Amino acid sequence: MKILSGIQPSGQLHIGNYFGMMKSMIAQMESSELYVFIVDLHAMTSVHDRDRLTTGTLEAAADFLALGLDPERCIFWVQSDVPEVCELSWVLSTIAPMGLIERCHSYKDKVANGIEASHGLFSYPVLMAADILLYQADQVPVGQDQKQHLEVARDLAQKFNNTFGETFVVPEPAISKETAIVPGLDGRKMSKSYGNTIPIFLEGKALKKRVMAIETDATPVEDPKDPDKCNLFAMLKLFATPERLQEVHELYVGGGAAYGYIKLELLDLISDCFAEARRKRAEYLADPAMLREILKKGADKARAKAMVTLDLVRDRVGFKY
Ligand code: ADP
Ligand code: TRP
Repeated sequence: MKILSGIQPSGQLHIGNYFGMMKSMIAQMESSELYVFIVDLHAMTSVHDRDRLTTGTLEAAADFLALGLDPERCIFWVQSDVPEVCELSWVLSTIAPMGLIERCHSYKDKVANGIEASHGLFSYPVLMAADILLYQADQVPVGQDQKQHLEVARDLAQKFNNTFGETFVVPEPAISKETAIVPGLDGRKMSKSYGNTIPIFLEGKALKKRVMAIETDATPVEDPKDPDKCNLFAMLKLFATPERLQEVHELYVGGGAAYGYIKLELLDLISDCFAEARRKRAEYLADPAMLREILKKGADKARAKAMVTLDLVRDRVGFKY
């Protein structure tokens, strides 16, 4: 089974990214052929700053490695190091119906949130389909927000296969039920573009400030509260043991849940959860030459795989005259 997913280096990675995608990718290293990449071409739809993009790319690499991704047991690379993806993206764009791409809500959401409406932003799902189809991925672990993009990839794979002959694997999304949408500080989806995140590697006062800023309602401590409607409880679910969660659940339902104390508990849990990874991350970031070498080796492996698919595509569409 080939499992593939990518992440944008467009800002600090946050706990929504971790629970929505990174954790399940890392867990599948043993059992699958794993493809993990940093999508800098996609990040260009919102980042037009050379230093931010290069730093973001190296940091995203350090984050993944620190969290346990082993580059010897997967293929780990930076998207732009395999330029074949751009050729496939063009080919797919010629069969992508306008209506299909126009229906994608992520474009409208991003524009509504202030990202410039560019052609790249609009055609983002086609490049994403090329990412997935180029490596013939069977499964793509993502958060709920990417489900529609997976549908585009499936539609394009099927359309290409019907038009030019069997070529692509039709990929399946893998969305974990519990962490499909990790809420942000304000209760909306946690997202870099909404400024409502808890970055994975934040620490000290900065982390405390974010955790204390989690929005809660004004119900008095002693009154019963609905844990399923509480943003703070949803975050606690990600970190607390089932036993502790049960206790806090009872406090919500029976009265006595003090948001301030629960936030402090969550703060410690987040800090402890990533303590070891935080140390490793600092080591990786202190050695950018090593990071580059890991990524270049990964790109060589990815490129060899990409060439096989692209060669077939070129033949199918008629580039081999
Ligand atoms: P962002 O919205 O912060 O820019 P990305 O689009 O880079 O995040 O997402 C990278 C991966 O993390 C994707 O698989 C996405 O579905 C997942 N993801 C992002 N935010 C969340 C969230 N709040 N809950 C669950 N998964 C998420
Ligand atoms: N669009 C994804 C996101 O914003 C990132 C991405 C690009 C991706 N190409 C991909 C995810 C291929 C999975 C597979 O999170």
